[in-house]
Amino acid sequence: MRISVNNLTFAYTQRPVLKNISFNLSSGNFLSVVGKNGTGKSTLIKCLLKIVAVPNNTIFFDDIDINAMKRFYHVGYVPQKLDFAYEFPITVSEFLSCAYLKRKDAFFTALINALDLNPIYRENINNLSGGQLQRVFIARSLLNKPKILILDEPTVSIDNESVAALHNILKDLHSNNVTIILSTHDFDFAKNLTDYYLALNEKGEYQFLPRKDYDNVIEYI
Ligand SMILES: Nc1ncnc2c1ncn2[C@@H]1O[C@H](COP(=O)(O)OP(=O)(O)OP(=O)(O)O)[C@@H](O)[C@H]1O
Ligand SMILES: [Mg+2]
Repeated sequence: MRISVNNLTFAYTQRPVLKNISFNLSSGNFLSVVGKNGTGKSTLIKCLLKIVAVPNNTIFFDDIDINAMKRFYHVGYVPQKLDFAYEFPITVSEFLSCAYLKRKDAFFTALINALDLNPIYRENINNLSGGQLQRVFIARSLLNKPKILILDEPTVSIDNESVAALHNILKDLHSNNVTIILSTHDFDFAKNLTDYYLALNEKGEYQFLPRKDYDNVIEYI
């Protein structure tokens, strides 16, 4: 899906975190959102997902204003903060099966295997380590074959093998025309996947640059 952001300004308080941000992505583009802590990467992602409110006519997925979209099932999301507690016991298996819109099939099993979730498949998700939970959320974001995939610092707490598995998965989705937005501090991970960088600075300013301008991105942030 195409993504269009037109003049997005967002503030939690008086001071805007994001100022007049505009960019366009074609279907299958890979965007890396980069910048120091607190520059608004997660906030931009929350705007794109309607987790925080944005004005009408600001963000479009395939020419549809996100404020007019009722369902986001074609959008996969891996949040940065996973500190939650369910009030009843639920296993990894139940958590993923509930989220899957189809009956369990070969695709489902392949995803479980790719993210090595078999050893924790019957565990209560409240008892997982941070990295294990992150891998469950990565699987969940991919279950319904999203057309847009948004990942907020997904590599932070997972081990090297899982990082490599995620890299392969993203490479594959990228070549299958999924539009991907990744927020990260891990340039090695992003470098050979990304088509564009959105570099945010502490003044709420930004630059939207193609992959070839990597050196300028590093200088900017
Ligand atoms: N719910 C909130 N209420 C008020 N201010 C917030 C809220 N969430 C974030 N902020 C502020 O907005 C700014 C941007 O935060 P954001 O989480 O988007 O940054 P980030 O680039 O994702 O940082 P990090 O690299 O640490 O994840 C920060 O100054 C932060 O303190
Ligand atoms: Mg963040």
